[in-house]
Amino acid sequence: MSHLKEKILQDGVVLNESVLKVDSFLNHQIDPIVLKEIGKEFLEYFKEKEITKVMTIEASGIAPAILVATKLEVPMLFAKKSEPSTLENEDQYATNVHSYTKNVTSRVLVSKKYLSPDDKVLIIDDFLANGEAALGLINLVEQAGAEVAGVGICVEKSFQPGHQKLVDKGIDIFSIVRIASLENNEITFIEETE
Ligand code: G4P
Repeated sequence: MSHLKEKILQDGVVLNESVLKVDSFLNHQIDPIVLKEIGKEFLEYFKEKEITKVMTIEASGIAPAILVATKLEVPMLFAKKSEPSTLENEDQYATNVHSYTKNVTSRVLVSKKYLSPDDKVLIIDDFLANGEAALGLINLVEQAGAEVAGVGICVEKSFQPGHQKLVDKGIDIFSIVRIASLENNEITFIEETE
């Protein structure tokens, strides 16, 4: 069993049938042992892909993304949700990302300087729910004419449509933990062999 799954069973809190609280070890306070293992699992899956850049979206994707980037020894680029005063519109790739969980739409952007058509980009995020964040990042990579090498997710809520949306786009997706259901205050996992 992955350490992340153990930690979810031990410290994850089911808030309701669609939200799992993991802020004691993944997206507020961060457990370095869990994070180290996450980096290792993503490396193992994506190491043959000749990745040139790891990309995520602020804020909670940054921690797992930097771990993988460190292991791959490539830069990590995070999409920003607020406009940096130092970056003109014509120097950005930007798109809108709607969060169903938070019911907000954010304009997310990266500097054109840090993505080029030669890049093979690994996208990393903490959660996959509706897939909006991942699709937004894919859109930014495509605007740059770069290639998406894959998407790596720490916790996938497989009962929400994100996974299927990425599969439909032909994306190579690897999720460390896949959750089948949060119903009845209980966490049910999809086992690795399924
Ligand atoms: P999507 O990107 O897959 O479409 O997901 P959705 O819009 O539903 O969720 C967006 C935000 O909500 C993301 O954070 C994501 O990490 C978080 N999220 C989604 N499901 C869960 C969950 O079950 N538990 C927790 N703890 N978070 C969840 P964000 O807007 O990028 O914010 P940030 O925390 O990274 O700044």
